Parts: sequence; C-alpha cells; structure tokens
Amino acid sequence: MTQQLSKHRHISFTAHYTGYIWYQMGISHPALATAKGKTLAALVHPIESWAEKYVGGSMRTTLKQRHSILDNHLKELIEQHPNLQVLEIACGLSPRGWWFRQHYPNITYRELDLPDMAATKQAALQQIESNVDEVLSVDLFTDAFAAAFEVFDQQRPLVIISEGLINYFEKPMLQQLIQAIANYGQNFKELRYLTDIYPEPTQNKLATIIWNSSRLLKWMSRSAFSFHFKNPAEVENFFQEAGFNQVEVLQPKQFFEQATLENTQQHLGDLVWVIQATNK
Ligand SMILES: C[S@@+](CC[C@H](N)C(=O)[O-])C[C@H]1O[C@@H](n2cnc3c(N)ncnc32)[C@H](O)[C@@H]1O
Repeated sequence: MTQQLSKHRHISFTAHYTGYIWYQMGISHPALATAKGKTLAALVHPIESWAEKYVGGSMRTTLKQRHSILDNHLKELIEQHPNLQVLEIACGLSPRGWWFRQHYPNITYRELDLPDMAATKQAALQQIESNVDEVLSVDLFTDAFAAAFEVFDQQRPLVIISEGLINYFEKPMLQQLIQAIANYGQNFKELRYLTDIYPEPTQNKLATIIWNSSRLLKWMSRSAFSFHFKNPAEVENFFQEAGFNQVEVLQPKQFFEQATLENTQQHLGDLVWVIQATNK
C-alpha cells in the first residue's frame, strides 16, 4: 500500500543541513553527508561564522551542544541498561544510530523518519553497515507510529530519542506526539523519552537573530516552527500532562560549566535544552 504524502515532509530538508554539520564536526560518515546538506551549510556558513566571532555562539554551536548532551545521556542509559532498546524518531541523517550500533552491539537501535528521508537514510546506511535493520518509514501523526512500538520487546527498557524535531509542531500537536509516546510505550519495562528542545530565547545575545532565523525556518519548512516554553517548569508540566511522571530539564550551562545553580527552574539563557522524561 502506498503511504500518503505527509504534510510535514517539507521539514525534511533540514535534516540534510544538520546531517552535513555532523559530518563537518567529524562525528559522521561521508555516506550520511549529502550534496544538498553541503549547499545549505555553505549558504549559512558566513552568518554562522559572524555570529561565532561577534556574538559568541551560533546555530551550529547549539547543534553541537544538543547532540553531545543527548549522546552522553544515551551512553549513561546503556551503562545502566546493557539491553536497552532505542527508537530514534525523526532520525534524519544523524550518525547516532550508526555510531551506537557499532559501539554497543548488544543494544537494539532502530531509526524512523518520513518515507523519503527513511529511504535516503536506508540507502546511506546500506553502504556503511552490514545487516542493517530497515529504517522505519512512518509519519509520527498517523497510526503507523503505534505499529513502530511493536518492533520492540516489552520486557526490555525502551528509550525514544528525538533531536531537532519538536519545535516544528504547534503545541497541541506536540502534546499529541508526547501522549502517543507515553501511551504506546506504557507496557514496556521502562520507558524514557529523551529529546532536545529550543525554549523561548529570552536572555541570549543571539535572541533577535534566533527569532528571525526561526521565522525563516518556519517559512522554509512550511511548518509551525515556534518556541513553546519559557522556563523548565512549563516543560515539566507539559510532559506530565502527556503521561510522563518524572521530567528532568537539563540546560547546557549546568552540563558544560558544571554550574551548581540552586534554582534550576530558571531559564539560564541557553538556546537549547535537553529533556529526559520517564513514566515511572
Ligand atoms: C531538523 S531534522 C533533524 C534530523 C536529525 N534528528 C538530526 O538532528 O540531524 C527534522 C527531521 O524530522 C523529520 N520529520 C518531520 N516531521 C515528521 C513526522 N511527522 N514524522 C516523522 N518524521 C518527521 C524530518 O523528515 C527530518 O528528518
């Protein structure tokens, strides 16, 4: 049966850009770096370099932050649960699945994206991995998402990961997505959702640039790209409402500067946060 075209498919080009950034960072494989990604990265490069020199940070520096915090969390989870199962939704051309499958052969790591991107990823992975499982071809807002959970063993812990995804949807759809994860994953021995999120850029020197870039991104991706939360408490309430009992919001300042900041309920000014939610 042919899958209907998703109205979210215009978001997919962004994965070529981030995919190329992961390659430029030296953490990916040439097979996951596309010509489209190279062109997009070259287009944005002058603005990014200007921001890094004069403002002290850029979009790609936030990419690096979010990616390494997520990787770190995942490594910790694997140490706690050597039989972990991972489903990376909206995987794009990220090298994470490839890297973790090479370094932790005992875990199960599956990836999922919209049909066209899933096919592109699958073709790239086939060049660099042997016996690679099929990249699941699913629109997260369809019933097919429920079926993606059936691929896994409920007796083992499951972590769902997303990166660079959830700002693209308006709040009710985001609530629907998080509820779906909590709901479809409720019978697993343990369920976690690990994701990044861009909060409202309130106190950062880059705030105006970020607001303007977000409007451009919204227009280019024909999505509802926006910032949904102003402080960690709002995130916690939102995830709890969706069915996750424990919600941890990690801000890069706490992570990289080892800040022993007492009041973590404050927005510390970072452009991206990482959320770890569990249903226990
Ligand atoms: C900004 S890219 C991020 C890709 C990757 N996670 C990374 O960090 O490089 C967003 C991804 O979300 C995927 N996506 C958007 N809407 C989706 C949906 N409704 N269902 C599944 N994937 C979706 C796009 O195809 C794209 O690969």
